[in-house]
Amino acid sequence: MEIRNVGVVGAGTMGNGIAHVFARCGYAVTLCDVEQRFLDRGLETIAKNLDREVAKNKITTDDKAATLKRIQAALDRGKLAGCDFVVEAATEKYEIKAELFRDLDRICRPEIMLASNTSSISITKLAALTKRADKVIGMHFFNPVPVMKLVEVIRGLATSEETYKTVRELAIKLEKTPVEVNDAPGFVSNRVLMPLLNEAMYAVMEGVATPEAVDEVFKLGMAHPMGPLTLADFIGLDVCLDIMRVMQAGLGDPKYRPCPLLIKMVDAGWLGRKSGRGFYKY
Ligand SMILES: NC(=O)c1ccc[n+]([C@@H]2O[C@H](COP(=O)([O-])OP(=O)(O)OC[C@H]3O[C@@H](n4cnc5c(N)ncnc54)[C@H](O)[C@@H]3O)[C@@H](O)[C@H]2O)c1
Repeated sequence: MEIRNVGVVGAGTMGNGIAHVFARCGYAVTLCDVEQRFLDRGLETIAKNLDREVAKNKITTDDKAATLKRIQAALDRGKLAGCDFVVEAATEKYEIKAELFRDLDRICRPEIMLASNTSSISITKLAALTKRADKVIGMHFFNPVPVMKLVEVIRGLATSEETYKTVRELAIKLEKTPVEVNDAPGFVSNRVLMPLLNEAMYAVMEGVATPEAVDEVFKLGMAHPMGPLTLADFIGLDVCLDIMRVMQAGLGDPKYRPCPLLIKMVDAGWLGRKSGRGFYKY
């Protein structure tokens, strides 16, 4: 079956980026969220990011207009019934995703593949909530989606070869590079990255160094384009905390315990760049 209409659930940092790349590559996109203001903010971000691509001569102003025209914002999840493929990019909470997958299974045609952009939650577990476990897969994009080349393609225990191949090809059509990974908490990217960010937070909490100093060490000493605390702010501290908790619960090793400073900052509403304050002020 040819994929033409793509549903994206969640219009936040990742959802709007995913809608952006699908629409720019010619797919019709239905972008869903729970409140109109989240949809408006998502569409605004897409327009701003497309302007950047125009400024860099990657696309024309006509391409920008055509891309925006291909995106339809929807509060009503029922509008996803017409989609040929759905990517879920809602908040990183199991209960939210579980409710969504049960409902998407009801709304979408039985032959439709359902992908999750989750950073850490078990694809196998989400798949088991549906009657199409063979058609559920992880399609893990990276932030900012229009720029980052990697898509981690995560096979759940029941994911079929056909689903894997379709999603792999879809990632290539989006001009991304798919990398195959099996289902495990945090997959590969966050299994390795998050403990690094978490440890950097411990270093700050224990007064070993300031956030600026920690970041400088990684930029100058390890040639990272940005330091771990700048990156944590960019990802979202709430997202980092959720991922650490999923790894702590799923892997059971105390080395995955979230840094108390991270917990405190999320409690304070300091979520990083998106809230104006994290390890830095924006
Ligand atoms: N931030 C990152 O760098 C990053 C990178 C890769 C993957 N992810 C994953 O992508 C997903 C989204 O993360 P984000 O950073 O975009 O979060 P975000 O907080 O920016 O956006 C989440 C959006 O989902 C919406 N939402 C919540 N419940 C919903 C529902 N039931 N139906 C529709 N929309 C709903 C929220 O209103 C919000 O707009 C998470 O699973 C996260 O782990 C994040």
